[in-house]
Amino acid sequence: MTSRMWGGRFAEGPDAIMEEINASIDFDRKLFRQDIAASKAHARMLAAQGIIAADLAQKIDGGLDTILREIEAGDFTFTRALEDIHTHVEARLTQLIGPEAGRLHTARSRNDQVATDFRLFVRDAIDQIDALLRDLQRALAETALEHAGTVMPGFTHLQTAQPVTFGHHLMAYVEMAGRDRGRFADARRRLNESPLGSAALAGTSFPIDRAMTAAALDFDRPTANSLDAVSDRDFVIETLAAASLCAVHLSRFAEEIVIWSSAGFGFIRLSDKFTTGSSIMPQKRNPDAAELVRAKSGRIIGAQTALLIVLKGLPLAYQKDMQEDKEQAFDAIEALELAIAATAGMVRDMSVDKAAMRKAAGAAFSTATDLADWLVQALGLTFRQAHEVTGRIVRLAEARKLPLHRLSLAEMQEVEPRITEAVYGRLGVGPSVASRVSYGGTAPGNVRREARRWLRRLDKEAAAAG
Ligand code: ARG
Repeated sequence: MTSRMWGGRFAEGPDAIMEEINASIDFDRKLFRQDIAASKAHARMLAAQGIIAADLAQKIDGGLDTILREIEAGDFTFTRALEDIHTHVEARLTQLIGPEAGRLHTARSRNDQVATDFRLFVRDAIDQIDALLRDLQRALAETALEHAGTVMPGFTHLQTAQPVTFGHHLMAYVEMAGRDRGRFADARRRLNESPLGSAALAGTSFPIDRAMTAAALDFDRPTANSLDAVSDRDFVIETLAAASLCAVHLSRFAEEIVIWSSAGFGFIRLSDKFTTGSSIMPQKRNPDAAELVRAKSGRIIGAQTALLIVLKGLPLAYQKDMQEDKEQAFDAIEALELAIAATAGMVRDMSVDKAAMRKAAGAAFSTATDLADWLVQALGLTFRQAHEVTGRIVRLAEARKLPLHRLSLAEMQEVEPRITEAVYGRLGVGPSVASRVSYGGTAPGNVRREARRWLRRLDKEAAAAG
């Protein structure tokens, strides 16, 4: 047997540097499970269609099982001379069952093989990411339920704006993760067509049954255009796009963890499990996991950009450039999975300093909007008038270096004589968050309802996923 699947036309072997740039086995060996599954489906179909003999299909099937076991056991020799995973499997099959193994490649090409294998791989990755995101949502919603009434400052421009609840803040990320999962599910739906049987680019003259191989591999249907099927990497790009946005969400949260755990804020503390020390400053506790989650977004976004650039100038159909789709996608998927798991870990690990949060929530006249709202609701001012009156009261409080609720009624009445004692009921951070009962608002009751709604949904999904 010639060691090269395409050796027949060639008089000389490749230059060493050619072999190095050409071979993909160092990374595409990751696809061995998918490659073997697709070959098994193909062999069974070939036999069912009378294209190969039934007993040969059985031998092929047994040989492929042996190869699967060998690779899983680390008992398989990979060599750059054999280029990629597809040729490795076929070469080993030939050793195992003899030259009749060569019939397996009837009516297919490495072009539809790699497109099929990679779709299967990305589909598995999406399922894995979805499970991880579900777990992150659970960690967030459980913590949110626990902290539905924990008051913290809400920020705009990173300036203290209005009091919110910590639970509400965490539930914001549950929503983001929900949209991320929707994008991955959407990518999965479009991905789930089988390229197998598109052959090199034009289809095949053999009477194959593409619906049969599609069903065997749990695809919804075969792809409809052979040229598109072998050239298309949309499924990777869509997945990397969803991964990029998901990584951006995780990065924003990671940044908040870094801020909240800093000495200036002191809102949360990560345990020794999620921090590291400094080699020189003995007192340090660094939130390295959060920083790395923040950084992982860079390589994930980079992978998406790289693949878009690889594809943008390629004419139909398969071009070898497309081999460059894998390494970065593998890396990005791994990085995202790690980032999601680390984020869930930090959420479960963090301890919350409620007193520090509450104190910060009351600083910087954070309930000024509540005062303005009260002036509208109790005294019938227009919101613009109320805004003006409140501004003057804030200035007064600032001059006296007092929080709003410590101003006397007489002092407030200097600005607006109709203000009554009742206003004090609205100036604390507790009443402030309790009053935000509008749909989607930060009131503890809302947070509890939303957290419970999500937890019920996550339970249902977990039960359905088995
Ligand atoms: N290793 C190749 C890849 O990853 C497989 C397809 C090769 N096809 C070809 N015509 N050389 O893209």
